[in-house]
Amino acid sequence: MGKKYYLFEDSAELAAQLAVDFKNAVEEKANSGESLTIALSGGHTPKAFFEILAEPPYREGIPWKNVIFFWGDERCVPPDNDESNYKMTNITLLSHIDIPAGNIHRVLGEDPPTNEALRYEKVIGENVSSGGNEFPRFDWIFLGMGDDGHTASLFPGAHNLKEMQRICVVAEHPETGQKRVSITFPVINNAKRVSFLVAGEAKAPVFKEILEKGSEPLPYPASMVEPQNGVLEWYLDKAAAPEL
Ligand code: 6PG
Repeated sequence: MGKKYYLFEDSAELAAQLAVDFKNAVEEKANSGESLTIALSGGHTPKAFFEILAEPPYREGIPWKNVIFFWGDERCVPPDNDESNYKMTNITLLSHIDIPAGNIHRVLGEDPPTNEALRYEKVIGENVSSGGNEFPRFDWIFLGMGDDGHTASLFPGAHNLKEMQRICVVAEHPETGQKRVSITFPVINNAKRVSFLVAGEAKAPVFKEILEKGSEPLPYPASMVEPQNGVLEWYLDKAAAPEL
């Protein structure tokens, strides 16, 4: 269903527009009495977006009972650890909004990674409808991209890039060895909507390669995101995409 590129002056403008798009998407679902299943990304980039949603008019204006949050990946650390994607999301967003606790499905980073990957894929399977094939079909998956082209916790050269059966896998950061739980490509590429949030000049070299050679096999997991029956969007600031 195509690729779309949205270019913004800076990360603040990107976050502001994304907040508008997010509110519209939730309201559209809520108007038909449905909820939106969302897999969030971690790292730094989403923070500005979350902080906007935590303020008026979004804090009260979005029907949060129609939002169901999951994470596309999580570091295997306790939820109060500064490395935790859940902690970042809780501080910037969740602790400010009136969302039912049952709508927040965090990865239990404090638990043994192998057990948690098995548990979390059950949670996703039970709470995200499949849309006809054997994999859960998220309404919206947010992804970041590392400077090395990783996305979620799917890193270049990792064996789990080829995982085609599991919903979640245990991943390992190539430099730190930190264990992660990550969704897999069959899940990512089964989503209705996948949005990359990419900002900053450090991302520019890899994004340029993906933009110019995306049809060729590249060593970047981010280039392997191709929703089979969904929309792929890139929300970018000028620093990350000077050539757009
Ligand atoms: C994580 C993320 C990861 C992140 C990218 C970009 O857990 O770290 O999910 O995939 O999105 O590394 O991170 P920044 O937004 O911090 O550049």
